[in-house]
Amino acid sequence: MGILDGKAAVVTGAGRGIGRGHCLHLAENGASVIVNDIDADEAQKVVAEIAAKGGKVSANASDIGTREGARELVEQCVNEFGAIHAIVNNAGNVRDRSFLKMTDQEFGDVLRVHVHGTFMCSQEAAQRMRAQGSGGCIINTVSAAHFGNFGQTNYAGSKGAIASMTYTWALELVRYGIRVNAVSPAATTRMSATAKVGGKVVDLPFIDPALNGPFVAFLCSDEADWITGQIFGTGADRVIVVEQPRYGAGMFKPGGWALEDIQQQFKKTLGNRLEPFGLMKQPYPFYDGVKPQAK
Ligand SMILES: NC(=O)c1ccc[n+]([C@@H]2O[C@H](COP(=O)([O-])OP(=O)(O)OC[C@H]3O[C@@H](n4cnc5c(N)ncnc54)[C@H](O)[C@@H]3O)[C@@H](O)[C@H]2O)c1
Repeated sequence: MGILDGKAAVVTGAGRGIGRGHCLHLAENGASVIVNDIDADEAQKVVAEIAAKGGKVSANASDIGTREGARELVEQCVNEFGAIHAIVNNAGNVRDRSFLKMTDQEFGDVLRVHVHGTFMCSQEAAQRMRAQGSGGCIINTVSAAHFGNFGQTNYAGSKGAIASMTYTWALELVRYGIRVNAVSPAATTRMSATAKVGGKVVDLPFIDPALNGPFVAFLCSDEADWITGQIFGTGADRVIVVEQPRYGAGMFKPGGWALEDIQQQFKKTLGNRLEPFGLMKQPYPFYDGVKPQAK
């Protein structure tokens, strides 16, 4: 008996990397799995790998950034396995370039796959789950880049949007028994090969992409039926709760703040409370001013 026996799951962008690992663990724990990837050959390889171990599995090559693709993907799961209980929105792409040089095309290409794809696949799946009356599980994929990362306006913005959609859907879908969480994975993959921190390519130690899979399998199971609206850092040796952005230090004045009051009070009260920002969360470095740097 596996903890996912009788469940049907879809994983997008699962022909390689992190998504492949999710599929292996979902199938190993009893789920029937649709392996989606726009790269059909890669999806087929994962299907063969799972089928060879006796798993129930099928490939789908939809472009998840289109409404037809999202609909066909969810329909295939229902047609082949009788229902859909979980969708893992994992597909992703990058088009890194610094903000001032980024083109509309680069911005749009990344939003289409991450934001629109996650929106459309989740909506198609949630409509089915509501109709089934069975509840269900949506797992989105974010990244620490959403804290801010040099050269990733499109990617960081997309992952921030996905985090906010995760919280919003968790609120809206709880009445149907549909849980909505996200993972912020870590892995050595085709995508991580281009990873930059502070604008520089970094040589990171190898992290097996499949190490994100066990937690995804757990989240899809009934043992996690009390977990929703959460984001978890996964991969390597970690499972970390990602804190929601929240209001922090403040100053308050009955009747509201006039400009002169702000000028007088702001630096005194909040001047040493500004937040570190960006992927590396270094202490706030700009107390002496933000000025053009010498070329
Ligand atoms: N690798 C990391 O360390 C890391 C860190 C944080 C977040 N992530 C996220 O994890 C997810 C998986 O990334 P990965 O590192 O395995 O990358 P990857 O490039 O190895 O895999 C992504 C897969 O998505 C597929 N894909 C892209 N566009 C698609 C589309 N329109 N329709 C269907 N499939 C599509 C690609 O063909 C590819 O197989 C992504 O959402 C990524 O942003 C990865």
